[in-house]
Amino acid sequence: MNTDPSQIQLTADGRLKHFLTTEGLSKDLLTEILDTADSFISTQERSVKKVPLLRGKTVANLFFENSTRTRSTFELAAKRLSADILNLDIQRSATSKGETLMDTLWNLEAMYSDMFVVRHADSGAAHFIAEHVTPNVAIINAGDGRHAHPTQAMLDMLTIRRHKGSIEGKVVAIVGDILHSRVARSQIHALNTLGAAEVRVVGPATLLPRDIEALGCKAYYDFNLALRDCDVVIMLRLQKERMQNALLPSESEFFKLYGLTTEKLALANPDAIVMHPGPINRGVEIESAVADGPQSVILNQVSYGIAVRMAVMAMAMSGQQSEQQAEQQAKGETEA
Ligand code: CP
Repeated sequence: MNTDPSQIQLTADGRLKHFLTTEGLSKDLLTEILDTADSFISTQERSVKKVPLLRGKTVANLFFENSTRTRSTFELAAKRLSADILNLDIQRSATSKGETLMDTLWNLEAMYSDMFVVRHADSGAAHFIAEHVTPNVAIINAGDGRHAHPTQAMLDMLTIRRHKGSIEGKVVAIVGDILHSRVARSQIHALNTLGAAEVRVVGPATLLPRDIEALGCKAYYDFNLALRDCDVVIMLRLQKERMQNALLPSESEFFKLYGLTTEKLALANPDAIVMHPGPINRGVEIESAVADGPQSVILNQVSYGIAVRMAVMAMAMSGQQSEQQAEQQAKGETEA
């Protein structure tokens, strides 16, 4: 198995053909995703929102974990690229009869799918699938375990770029349940590659992995200190469904120390923006006055998610097609 995800997701000439992780991708490639997404935002503001880039292609949405934002915006993105979209209802699928993940995927391949968008509870699931599907089927990671949520990270990067002008030089705090957060990991890689001045991760010791600073961030246990000079404050959801042990004294204690209130936000730069990938636990990570307040860009993140997912799907499909053409050309030259 190829253990370097940044290699498996690229063609021989460095184009995207799967999107599994932000880790290891170049600044140029991440910037290309953001620029392409920017170009799709204007198409989303037209009365006719569709473009024909994926006409004739079939995209299968496979969500083995629940989702509102990611699943809906991938579906809209595929439709707005003119693809046919198949939403497999996992609860009603043959998965409940014991069919394996790979058998499910091979059957969907037999239905001439060109792209799988996959959310799965196991870290590494998207990478595993990319290793095992037939060539020319693109895999887009919609969140795997605690590992990565690369399209969420890229829509977050687009949000920062559009609201703060650039990512370069910005001080960004990521706050809360870092331990279980695939979003935080993907954000840290993208922020560092795109030139953020400082990435701070903030939370209680029980929710900050000991080796987190190795990813290129600074750990803070004091939220007040971490907010100083911040341009961007990203709040995370407490992932109670992934907590096997008691990692917190209580939600009210967590909110007192790490919840974002109007008073706490005043410690950041006056023009700081507030983000959250959703779903929000109001009164646990963030108070409603902040979530719905003037510095919040939380719903803008959701809107930009359509454009970012359109960009990633269009780029991966184009990468797959160019690889297929190169293979056919090489085969023709060998046979000639
Ligand atoms: N941000 C995010 O992944 O939300 P969903 O779980 O609703 O897709």
